[in-house]
Amino acid sequence: MPDVAFINGTFVPLAEAKVSIEDRGFQFGDGVYEVIRTYRGRPFALEGHLARLHRSATALDLALPYSNAEWTDYVREGIKRASYPEAKIYIQVTRGVAPRDHAYSAETTPTVVMTVREFHPLDRSLQAAGVEAMTIEDIRWGRCDIKSVNLLANVLARQQVRQAQVFEAILIKEGLVTEGAVSNVMVVQRGTVVTAPEGPRILSGVTRATVLNLARSEGLPVQERFVSQADLYHADEVFLTGTTVEVLAVVRIDGKIIGGGRPGPIVQRLAACFTSRVSSPLALA
Ligand code: PDD
Repeated sequence: MPDVAFINGTFVPLAEAKVSIEDRGFQFGDGVYEVIRTYRGRPFALEGHLARLHRSATALDLALPYSNAEWTDYVREGIKRASYPEAKIYIQVTRGVAPRDHAYSAETTPTVVMTVREFHPLDRSLQAAGVEAMTIEDIRWGRCDIKSVNLLANVLARQQVRQAQVFEAILIKEGLVTEGAVSNVMVVQRGTVVTAPEGPRILSGVTRATVLNLARSEGLPVQERFVSQADLYHADEVFLTGTTVEVLAVVRIDGKIIGGGRPGPIVQRLAACFTSRVSSPLALA
């Protein structure tokens, strides 16, 4: 089955999907996006992703053209058409097509694009062994809470990650850990799960929220505050959360061993809770 694309209400084969060169997403990165994955063919936390899509769009003064019910129908239809065992759904809404001018008009019709591709879950051996990360200066703008398609700083960070042959970049702003280039970062300090607070410095991850709720319901203390780079290296455990990485232990950062160099007890417990959460039909749309 070929990958599926959707443009402004119509499903087309991905190879035939085209947008104008005057689309403001192409010319200015003037748009927002979401990445959603399925478990057993059903989208996980679709409501949370749609809520964030609304927040991102509102922050850019961009009106989403569909109701949540319509988005849900389109996502389900895309999954059905692609018929992969597991799918990754990419939704992008840009301000639309207009002659190039930085300022925009309220009249412009947004361009909605969705793709549905096969999702290949991470190798279980990575989960068992944990991964390596590197720190990189966080050079992003002041509204990282908006899931905008402007991803240049993330692109450069991920390329450094590729060249260094590690798994993820942990971004550092003024000596503090903000998040990963494509994930949120959590640390465990003396039994407490600590992660950067919601606000303009991080993307409020849908997985982050799920994992913090799981930690609380497990009776683990949770603190939403910044951790310094120095404290990161001395944390008992460090882990990543995200749609594509789920809950993933980091066992080495900048060549320094974290904790015992193996996934610690809390990340193992939260990863197990996360696995049972995504197995629950209630979590799936
Ligand atoms: N990114 N922080 C950043 C900067 C991200 O790009 C992502 C996800 C997350 C985790 O958010 P969530 O749990 O809602 O997936 C945090 C997606 C997967 C991407 O850009 O491909």
